[in-house]
Amino acid sequence: MKHVIKLPDPQKELGFPLMKALEIRQTTRKWSDAPVSEQELSNLLWAACGITKHKVGQVKSKRTAPSACNSQEIRVYIILKEGVFLYEEENHELIRISTDDIRESIGTQKMMKSAPMGLVYVADLSRMNSPFLRSDEARRFCAWVDTGYISQNVYLYCAASNLGTAVLSLVDRDKLHRLMHLKEHEKIVLTQVVGHLG
Ligand SMILES: Cc1cc2nc3c(=O)[nH]c(=O)nc-3n(C[C@H](O)[C@H](O)[C@H](O)COP(=O)(O)O)c2cc1C
Repeated sequence: MKHVIKLPDPQKELGFPLMKALEIRQTTRKWSDAPVSEQELSNLLWAACGITKHKVGQVKSKRTAPSACNSQEIRVYIILKEGVFLYEEENHELIRISTDDIRESIGTQKMMKSAPMGLVYVADLSRMNSPFLRSDEARRFCAWVDTGYISQNVYLYCAASNLGTAVLSLVDRDKLHRLMHLKEHEKIVLTQVVGHLG
């Protein structure tokens, strides 16, 4: 398997009424074995925190989700049967981190272990270098809030695309951190499982 996987372009023209997506959004904890297709993954990741305006010179890019001081510190990792991948939003591609199947560690609840796919929201604290985010407390608060926006984008995309999803805080973060080979300045905030409805 290649180290860098270019995702198909996201289908930004797909339509679904926003008010309906808000109405039917919900947490689901049952799914079928059907894998999430590359196109669905592309759409989902772009909806989560994809680039809406590319950077120009020193002006940073913009994403579908806001972030404190536009730090863009939340990185989305994808946990699949085929391994662990990092979403590189600037090029809309996946970078393979490992070929290990660590899906069982996405959450600690038994029912989560059968999910076909997991997302892990990781705060890269080295990106939070605004003077407004000097204290540990400010960085922690903002990383959690910024994760919430991304997670809700995923909820809304899933609602609009007939996918099931659940965001999880019941996670053994130390274990997952080890399994994902993360560094000290990379902190797991939440995880989220996604799959076709069972
Ligand atoms: C920060 C956060 C953490 C959550 N952690 C878990 C979890 O670990 N396990 C779980 O089954 N659901 C978890 N949930 C889902 C909530 O239980 C769910 O959102 C709530 O029951 C309301 O249901 P709804 O999302 O269908 O409206 C979490 C939700 C949030 C916002």
